[in-house]
Amino acid sequence: MNNYSEKFEKMRVAGKLAAECLDMITDHIKPGITTNKIDNLCYEFIRDNGGYSAPLYYRGFEKSLCTSLNHVICHGIPSDRELEENDILNIDVTTIVDGYHGDTSRMFTVGEISIKAKNLIDATYNSLMNATKILKPGIKLGDIGYEIQSYVEAKGFSVVRDFCGHGISNIFHEPPNVLHYGKKNTGNELQPGMTFTIEPMINSGKYDAKVLKDGWTAVTKDKSLSAQFEHTVGITENGYEIFTESVKGYKKPPYNK
Ligand code: MF3
Ligand code: CO
Ligand code: CO
Repeated sequence: MNNYSEKFEKMRVAGKLAAECLDMITDHIKPGITTNKIDNLCYEFIRDNGGYSAPLYYRGFEKSLCTSLNHVICHGIPSDRELEENDILNIDVTTIVDGYHGDTSRMFTVGEISIKAKNLIDATYNSLMNATKILKPGIKLGDIGYEIQSYVEAKGFSVVRDFCGHGISNIFHEPPNVLHYGKKNTGNELQPGMTFTIEPMINSGKYDAKVLKDGWTAVTKDKSLSAQFEHTVGITENGYEIFTESVKGYKKPPYNK
């Protein structure tokens, strides 16, 4: 027992529900489903399993999760848009269970996608997992950013600057900011008991972003594709724990092969 074990236990429960929600929706990702339908299915799944969708009414957001398609970087709003062959899609789910949050997102692909899109998705997933594997007390926030930035830039992709990971616990977004670019051995030191997200947004073109008139949807300025994966993690005495790992073993697309 330590002074954060109760918090970690709650984060584990909330994180597991968020991951199970993404597991559940995976089979539904096919041409013709609307992003509103995805939103509804996930809302009901979370509610029926004892949680609440944190994005719903968060700072005026009117849906229960984010669906970010193709050149949308993040905070895409579910709509009547039907998924089509060739689409790449991020679904970002955040649960609240017993006051604590679990925040996770994965990429999904619809039918055949381009080699470039596949490479972008693979690089984004790998960058998240590479950054996760180095987590332990004593490393610095900049080490996380460095890991992600050096990996994806070597492949010719870019790291979005305008959005970052965040502390998370009984509050959805709290300090520290977790930047996905940076220099080794800079920034605050990680301490046991810290809980935060890592959620790199990686573009196939330039990193510049803009927010559409709806006030939420962030897109790449150059209309290039963007990908993202997110985990909620906790720092332990000598390493880390991922709270949002798939129960079904889903990591990156394709999920059913
Ligand atoms: N889940 C997003 C994150 O990773 C935040 C979404 S807030 C919303 O931090 F209001 F846009 F839903
Ligand atoms: Co987040
Ligand atoms: Co999220």
